[in-house]
This record gives sequence, structure tokens and C-alpha cells, in this order.
Amino acid sequence: MNRIIYLNGEFCSETDAKISIFDRSFLFSDSVYEVTTVLNGKMIDFDNHMKRLDRSMSELKFSKMLDHELIKKFHKDLILKNNLKEGIIYLHVSRGVADRSFNFPPKETDLTVVAFSQEKNLIENKESKNGISIMTLEDKRWKRCDIKTTQLLYPSFAKAEAYEKGFDDAWMLRDGYISEGTSNNAWIIKSGKILTRQADDLILNGITRQSVINCAKILGYNISYKGFTLTDAISADEAFITSATTFVTPVVNINGKKISTGKPGEFTGKLREEYIKNSLKTAI
Ligand code: PDD
Repeated sequence: MNRIIYLNGEFCSETDAKISIFDRSFLFSDSVYEVTTVLNGKMIDFDNHMKRLDRSMSELKFSKMLDHELIKKFHKDLILKNNLKEGIIYLHVSRGVADRSFNFPPKETDLTVVAFSQEKNLIENKESKNGISIMTLEDKRWKRCDIKTTQLLYPSFAKAEAYEKGFDDAWMLRDGYISEGTSNNAWIIKSGKILTRQADDLILNGITRQSVINCAKILGYNISYKGFTLTDAISADEAFITSATTFVTPVVNINGKKISTGKPGEFTGKLREEYIKNSLKTAI
């Protein structure tokens, strides 16, 4: 594969793209990112991804902000140039290039902006059909998980640990409560109520999570923004994850214990359908 990628205002082949070894992203993971879903060649929830990008950049005190129209234009160009029908556009913004110092570089330092496309079967895949298995482990991340930074070593470690042990993914536990998945939000359904943890500093407030909350309201489901424990999850009627790349995907097994019958749940399926229907309707 040789994609056309975007780097600092220009498009080039992925094999020609070059970034300085002094980039703050390389030396300090001093960067934020967004992942926007593409279905039928159109973007889902683009404006909400931009709002979260602004928030991440301002929480990290980036001295410059980016123009959303410009970002939209190069996202659309990437979709066209790479003939992307279904998949994602990954956007990465770093504080820029500066001699190595723990202090932030001068305010006038240009940000580094990179974006590329990835093809992926998002609607039809075995995970959404059969459900996934999850293991749990301690959440050892810093306490600003609400900022979408590229400091992803611990989630990557957790995912690799899960794979090594024969699971599809991991949910992280902090103070006895499930915080979230390695790269997704965690949900359960119990006694007719959907539970998702409150969006605070300890989880990323997923854009998919926010859309799925709307879908749940459309379908007339009760939602409670409450943390839940591993015991709650294992005894739940249904469990699922949400993210830009998984939409609503059923969880059928946690730490080797079946959730209910061990089959994808009925309400989870309805939520996924509603989410895809709404997303296709509002895509740009
Ligand atoms: N991850 N929580 C974490 C820790 C995440 O990394 C993600 C997304 C989510 C869900 O957010 P959203 O609904 O906006 O995709 C929750 C992306 C997909 C990734 O890192 O690839």
C-alpha cells in the first residue's frame, strides 16, 4: 500500500513523508490525535471530533489552534486521493519541533500536523457479529485520560497482554470500578438500565459514546451515568464497547465468564443498528 498522506500543509506519498527527530511528539509524546470514521466515503461526527481536538489542545496549553475548515478540507482530500470508502482518517497534532527541553518551546513554534487514511471493515466484521472477549487489568494511566494524547503505551501494553492471554481486548479497573477499554468506552445493561460511567478526568469522553447516548434516548432506553464494578459487569444482562472504529460492539465474555448466555445482546444489536443508521444520515 502506498497512501497519499497529509503533512504540514502538503500531500505526499507515505514513503516520502519525513518528520524531524526533534519533534516534541517523538521525544515527549507531546501530541494529541483524533480518529474520524469514514462510511461510504463520508465522515461521521466530524464537528464533534474538532470540538474535542480543540479541548485536548487547550488542556495541554498548545499556543496555537487549528482551523476546522482547513482540517475538514484535507480530510476530504485524503478520502478522495486514497479512494477511501470505509475506514478512518487519523489526525495527529504535535507541539512542533524544538531542541530537547522539558519546558515547552517558544509560543511561535509551528505545530506539526499529520493525517492519513486507513481502510477498515467497520460495518460488517466478525467482532460485531459474534461479540468479543475482554480481560480486566489495573488502570495505570495518568489521571488526565479525558485528553486524547498520543501517550498510548499503557493501553497498547494492555491490548498486547489481552491478546497474549487469548482475549480480544482489555477493560481497565481503577479503585474497583471499570474505567474504560484500551481504546473504547465500556458499557453494561442491567435490569433494563444502560450504565456508562460519568465522563470525568479518568476516561475519554468518546464521540461515539455521546452519539450512542442520543441513540439510546431515541430508542427510549434508560441511561444511568454511573460507574460499575467487575462484579456488576459479569452479572450484567449485556455488555458492549463503543468507539469510532468499533461503533457498538458486544462483549460476550469477561475474564472467561460468559455475560448472560454468552451471545451478543438484543439491545446492544438495536443500539448498533440505530447508531449506524443515524451516522449514515448525518455523514458529511
Ligand atoms: N480510540 N476511550 C479511549 C481510551 C479511546 O482511545 C477511545 C478511542 C475511546 C472512544 O472514543 P471515540 O468514540 O471518540 O472513538 C474511548 C480511538 C478509536 C483510537 O485510539 O484508535
